Amino acid sequence: MKYDKVLSIETSCDDTSIAVVRHDGYVLAQSSANQDLQHKDFGGIVPEIAGRNHSIQVLPLVQSCLEKAKLTWNEIPGIAVTNRPGLMGSLLVGVVTAKTLSLTKKIPYVGINHLEGHLLAPFLKDDRHTPPESFNYPYIALAVSGGHSQIYLVKEFGQYQILGKTIDDAAGEAFDKFAKMVGLGFPGGAVVDKMAKSGDIKKYDYPRPMIREKTINMSFSGLKAAAKRQIEKMPPELIEQECANLCASYQEAIVDVLMAKLKLAVKQVGKINGVVLTGGVSANSRLRATAEAWANEVGLTLAVPPIRYCTDNAAMIGYAGVKRLNLGEVSSQELAPSPKVYPGDFLV
Ligand code: KG4
Ligand code: ZN
Repeated sequence: MKYDKVLSIETSCDDTSIAVVRHDGYVLAQSSANQDLQHKDFGGIVPEIAGRNHSIQVLPLVQSCLEKAKLTWNEIPGIAVTNRPGLMGSLLVGVVTAKTLSLTKKIPYVGINHLEGHLLAPFLKDDRHTPPESFNYPYIALAVSGGHSQIYLVKEFGQYQILGKTIDDAAGEAFDKFAKMVGLGFPGGAVVDKMAKSGDIKKYDYPRPMIREKTINMSFSGLKAAAKRQIEKMPPELIEQECANLCASYQEAIVDVLMAKLKLAVKQVGKINGVVLTGGVSANSRLRATAEAWANEVGLTLAVPPIRYCTDNAAMIGYAGVKRLNLGEVSSQELAPSPKVYPGDFLV
């Protein structure tokens, strides 16, 4: 095998992350920096700020990651970098860094589709985590984050079919917008999750858009609008007093929709070896618990990577990268960042 490991770079959105990953998915080290504090006051990610922070953080993180892995550049045979999809100013920093390191260290590099990384995250392992033993292709993956909400059939490495996706907002966006409405700040998914633990899931009746339609596509904008209309009518003291119940009821609507679509996908596809939850929203405790109970009931292997490999991270990009380099794929110095996936990235 030509590449036993790679150094990987992920800067597609607001997390700067560097990892060293072995060909078998073992993560030798990962160094990441999130930018939540820098974007908090704006109530969302500001692309210019994200790009600037990546350029400040990326090289010190490369250094710290190599130190953590106790490796020198002589021991790194290749580089992987996210070049699509994402924010252009953010992707650019990673791509330019990868190209420069590739030239100066005289090693090949390869551009990776960020979503492929999320889909392969269940294969990552380290000292603290091993994937379920029986887990393998083909599997169905629910990829839910602030920027994407899709359900895929992962047939084999490199063969990814989109079965359904949100037709409007991403699930993470639905969490974040709601958190803002009830005064919980940005990004709000984790806070809503925490508040919801002491709330009543039945106290408020939120819509579950498209839940009964026989499509794997989903929608969250109607839910968000319903919550907005309701919260605007509530005085601030009542919102504060009812916050846990509001969070629990709203979260339940999102979890219900995601689970209904996941179950429909499993039913439609038939023979699979497992189900995966990935992306930032898969950190949601209610979603995890509901999916676990269902998987046990129907006898499916459920793989939920640890949160460090669910949210945006370089380890998942490294795993995709080392596989692609070993298959002979190498990017040239002409590679550009792209806000969208390539036409051939997914099966049609
Ligand atoms: O994958 P990620 O780190 O970045 C993107 O690619 O977007 O996902 C971030 C999203 C945010 O919308 C955040 O609110 C949401 O994941 N999130 C959660 C939880 N933790 C993070 N949503 C619900 N429950 C959580 N515990
Ligand atoms: Zn992501």
